[in-house]
Amino acid sequence: MLKAVILIGGPQKGTRFRPLSLELPKPLFPVAGFPIIYHHIEACCMVSEVKEILLIGFYQPSEALNRFIQTTQQKFKINIRYLQEYTSLGTAGGLYHFRDQILSGNPEGFFVFNGDVCCDFPLNDMYTFHKNLPNGTKYTILATEATRKQSLNYGCLVENPETHEVLHYVEKPQTFVSSIINGGVYLLSPEIFDRIGRVFQLNQNEIFSCDSFTQAKDCIRFEQDIFTPLAGTGSLFVFKTQGFWSQIKSAGSAIYANRLYLGLYHRNHPEILALNEDGKPKIIGDVYIHPKANVDPSATLGPNVTVGENVTIGAGVRVRESILLPGATLQDHCCILNSIVGWNSLVGAWSRVEGTPSDPNPNDKHAKIDSDALFNSDGRLNPSITILGQHVIVPDETIVLNSIIMPHKELGLSYKNEILL
Ligand code: GDD
Repeated sequence: MLKAVILIGGPQKGTRFRPLSLELPKPLFPVAGFPIIYHHIEACCMVSEVKEILLIGFYQPSEALNRFIQTTQQKFKINIRYLQEYTSLGTAGGLYHFRDQILSGNPEGFFVFNGDVCCDFPLNDMYTFHKNLPNGTKYTILATEATRKQSLNYGCLVENPETHEVLHYVEKPQTFVSSIINGGVYLLSPEIFDRIGRVFQLNQNEIFSCDSFTQAKDCIRFEQDIFTPLAGTGSLFVFKTQGFWSQIKSAGSAIYANRLYLGLYHRNHPEILALNEDGKPKIIGDVYIHPKANVDPSATLGPNVTVGENVTIGAGVRVRESILLPGATLQDHCCILNSIVGWNSLVGAWSRVEGTPSDPNPNDKHAKIDSDALFNSDGRLNPSITILGQHVIVPDETIVLNSIIMPHKELGLSYKNEILL
């Protein structure tokens, strides 16, 4: 039996995701029609040995989170529970705090996921790889390739190419170490808690732990505190995925993840994607339309568009590479490109809402987003997708280009490269 733990962070995390994370916890933000962590859960349910999924984070329990857990466990017929840390305990500290719950039922091991990764999660292959490793205590990290420049933003690992043992692990190095990066998914045997326990004991005697004064003494990070010392000891291994992998940090990366997950539906369950049919809107490429959305047949959607629940799309509307959140209204002949339209927002007739995609090559499934930063080194706004927060009103015949509009704004003018507070 296996278990799975998804690290969902807490309210101080996900700040680059504003204004979208102002309305609901970032892990619940819908990408390709479903919350970010729904995709992790769906992948776990394809591994028959996984019997329970634990979400660990420091969000206050909320109605949205409870509802998500209820509906998802009913849908997949699996036990899902939320365990709340009393404060940010780091990527390993929360697991250690709840180790009794993770180990109850004696799992042979458990997956751990960073809640903000977007991946096709080849978990069965990873489990087979893990089982075939030499006997003894073992831990497997899912990894992917990045460019030299991109690698500096991630955990970097050096492997023995024959045995796949991790020989060296450096978290976000200053200079190039390796283009093999930590993909934020691990398969760990229960002995990991002996390791984490030793770090925990050491931290109790330290004045400070982790990086800052504000962190709890119980804060333990997998990356620096566990993997770095474990590298080269014969028990840490790397499983490299050839599939797609990305992080969801900024709203711009949500558009990219939307495209990747729609592509995954195309391969795994194409029946949920929209088709070109008589009397229906024109569909280009992968498009997901919620069954309760109302789309005029003269609209053209795609590629890579998600239309949420109760969205209304008028005549002649064009939408490409965008997420339309539940309740949004697009009036006749407006055009939405590379944008996220917030909950219950309204875009007037003949208006244009447009952003600039941040991914370098839309056809490269291994492409990582080079910069998720809102501002470049000159302090200027990076060209970005356009985001309308919830309840934004864009009047008729208005242009909103590369801009971020905070919730509850009614625009009077056109905007370009602005953050409208
Ligand atoms: N429960 C909980 N408690 N979750 C946490 C905590 C915590 O104290 N701290 C972080 N997390 C969650 C975040 O919400 C996020 O989903 C994930 O753990 C990663 O945490 P970050 O601190 O944002 O790290 P990162 O994304 O910069 O880097 C990590 O992920 C990369 C791959 O996605 C590292 O693991 C890198 O090595 C890795 O390459």
